[in-house]
Amino acid sequence: MAYIIDDTCVDCKYTYCAAVCPVQAFHEGPNQLFIHPDTCIDCGACVPECPIEAIHSELDLPLSMEHCVATNAQASLFPVIETSKEPLRGPNCKDNRG
Ligand code: SF4
Ligand code: F3S
Repeated sequence: MAYIIDDTCVDCKYTYCAAVCPVQAFHEGPNQLFIHPDTCIDCGACVPECPIEAIHSELDLPLSMEHCVATNAQASLFPVIETSKEPLRGPNCKDNRG
């Protein structure tokens, strides 16, 4: 089991999550972050850090986001990110909080 970042992260990439992970499980792709499933220790610390609720326990993943298990499994293709940085918040970021 691992925690999963869903598509809500795409083009938003706030990166607050990466700074709290005790085991450096986050990897940075061009438009979103991924959680490496073999590194994540299921602590849950990253969940409240995401302002748009893009992180879920694999056990609670919405059905519509089940494909994200496979995309997070590709995390090792990208470099580890251990700190927060300026959010991407691009034009396709589905953050509707205004
Ligand atoms: Fe890291 Fe814990 Fe989030 Fe897994 S659940 S990615 S170990 S902060
Ligand atoms: Fe993405 Fe939320 Fe982290 S938008 S980068 S999962 S803080």
